[in-house]
Formats: sequence, structure tokens, C-alpha cells
Amino acid sequence: METVVSGIRSTGNLHLGNYFGAVKNFIKMQEAYNCFFFIADFHSLTTHPTPENLHGNVRRVLVEYLAAGIDPEKSTIYVQSDVPEVTELYLLLNMNAYLGELERATSFKDKVRANPDNVNAGLLTYPVLMAADILIHKGLKVPVGKDQEQHLEMTRTFGNRFNRMYNVEYFPEATAFNFGTELVKIPGLDGKGKMGKSEGENNAVYLGDSAEVIRKKVMKAVTDSGPTEMNQAKPDIIQNIFDIMKAVSSADTYDHFNSLYNKCEIRYGDMKKQLAEDTISFLEPIRKRIEEIEGDKEYLKKVANMGAEKARESASKTIKEVREIIGFRSF
Ligand code: TRP
Repeated sequence: METVVSGIRSTGNLHLGNYFGAVKNFIKMQEAYNCFFFIADFHSLTTHPTPENLHGNVRRVLVEYLAAGIDPEKSTIYVQSDVPEVTELYLLLNMNAYLGELERATSFKDKVRANPDNVNAGLLTYPVLMAADILIHKGLKVPVGKDQEQHLEMTRTFGNRFNRMYNVEYFPEATAFNFGTELVKIPGLDGKGKMGKSEGENNAVYLGDSAEVIRKKVMKAVTDSGPTEMNQAKPDIIQNIFDIMKAVSSADTYDHFNSLYNKCEIRYGDMKKQLAEDTISFLEPIRKRIEEIEGDKEYLKKVANMGAEKARESASKTIKEVREIIGFRSF
């Protein structure tokens, strides 16, 4: 079975966009691949979280991913900092990662521009840590968004460089991956772009939102004054609402509102009411699970320990072999 590795950043709660864009994909992959999903808490240190925030964020991500359907019996779900082998590989890879290439990474340049007062070495070597995350399990397939393409390219560079340097064919080339059809992009409710937390509280529906909050957010979604011609093309803000409906409602419901639109008979208030109710039903089981798991300390502990153990088994095998290749010998 091929190995899939993906890291989840421990920032913010999961929203519908994350669900349809990533998590749903993970859930399908765990049936067919040897999956490692981890919470990237070392990576989160580049922005210096407080000790309380650090753990709280990790815990929340763990709860929500489990609630959304990642199955700890099928996938290895673990916390990055529970696997110290990752840091060793990171150190080893750093010896062959060059300043010039690290400085040229788009994500690094963006961060320098955004926070010129916090240009730390961890930020510079972020792609090396990410490469270590993937190479530690000899990952082949990496489900990530387009924004991570350059990091994956660097992962291949570092792995190949290692292979060449020691004249081995040890690390495979990891490539971006999504399961089956193209990923669904969920737009935000503000009519502007994709769903995300940085776009404001009301722009995103979170998996843990209550029915009341969902109703409020969806009813506030931006619309226009309605179509004036039959079969008129939909402007972006209207298309966005249809896109969300396509993801959470039944095909019949979608077709119903689509044909009302085409006949210029649509009432956006009705459509949004329907969308709110369908979103609520869609999220209901996940929200229940979040509540259940949140309070179950024992379960979380069990899952984290089990994940750490499985991940370390795979990671320590790699480290042992890498040490051997590099030439470390014990006395
Ligand atoms: N850099 C990724 C992001 O920002 C998170 C990440 C860290 C990751 N390590 C990884 C993703 C390894 C895939 C594989 O989303």
C-alpha cells in the first residue's frame, strides 16, 4: 500500500471549506492507502504561541478531525512533537539545504513581508521540516493545496540530493495528490472569495457551529437584486451560494433553486433558509461527535498515544537506516 502523508496546521477551527477541500478527501484515502495524518505543532512555533494556546490548538484540531471521520484504526493520526525522530531528520536535511533556495521560497518571502520583525530561522527552514515530515515515512502521496506545491518541490530536491550524495535510492519522490475527482472549493458567505477564517467571522461556517449561529450566518450571505433575464449567467456572489448548496443539499434541492433562478422566480430569502437548514442537518452528526469527543479525555489520550506509537515505529526505522547511510556507527 502506498504511503500518504499530510500535515495539518493547528490554527483555527475547521470550517466547511476545510471539510470539502481536504478532510473529506482524507477520509476516502484512509480506505485505500497507508495514511499518516499529523498535527503540525512544531511548525506552529514560528509564530510563538503561548503554552496554553499551543496545547489547546492541537487538541481542538485532533477533536475535529476525529469528529469529521478520520479513523484512528485506519489512519495513523498523531501529533508531530510526539515523534522526535522528525527533528533528527530535520537536522540532517538542514546540512544540505542551501540558504539561497530557502530564501527564494515564496512562503518565506511572503512571511518576511508580512512580519519583518519575526524573521526567525524556523521560518527559513520551514520547508526542511516539512520535507522531514514527509520523508520520515517515505511518503509518496501528499494531499495538500496548490499553495504547498513549492514546498513539495523542495521536498523532492532534498530527498534527491540525499540520494545522490550517498549514492542510494532511498527517499522516493513525493507528489501532490487528491483522491478521485477535482477538489471542491467552497466559497465564503461574503461573496468575495474562498471560505476562510481570515476573511471575518461571518464568512465561514464552522463544523462546530450551533444551528442558531449557522442560520444567522447563512441568512446574512451576500446576494443581489435577482436575475432579470431568463437563463442569465450567475454573478460570482450568487454562484457562490449555489456552490455551497451543491455541497450540502440534495441534487433535487439544488435543481429546484437553479430552475427558479433560470425562470427569474428565485427568492434568495427562501434559498438561504433552505441552505441554512441543509447545512445544519449536514453538520449535525459531526457537531454531536465534537461534543462527545471534546469531553472524553481518555479517548483523546488513547488516540494520541496509539498514533504516536505507530508513527514512531515508522519514523525510527527510517532514522536507523538514514544514520547507517550517512555513516554513524555505534561503538
Ligand atoms: N505546510 C503545510 C500547510 O501549511 C502543513 C504541513 C507541514 C504539511 N508539514 C507537512 C503538509 C507535511 C503536508 C505534508 O498547510
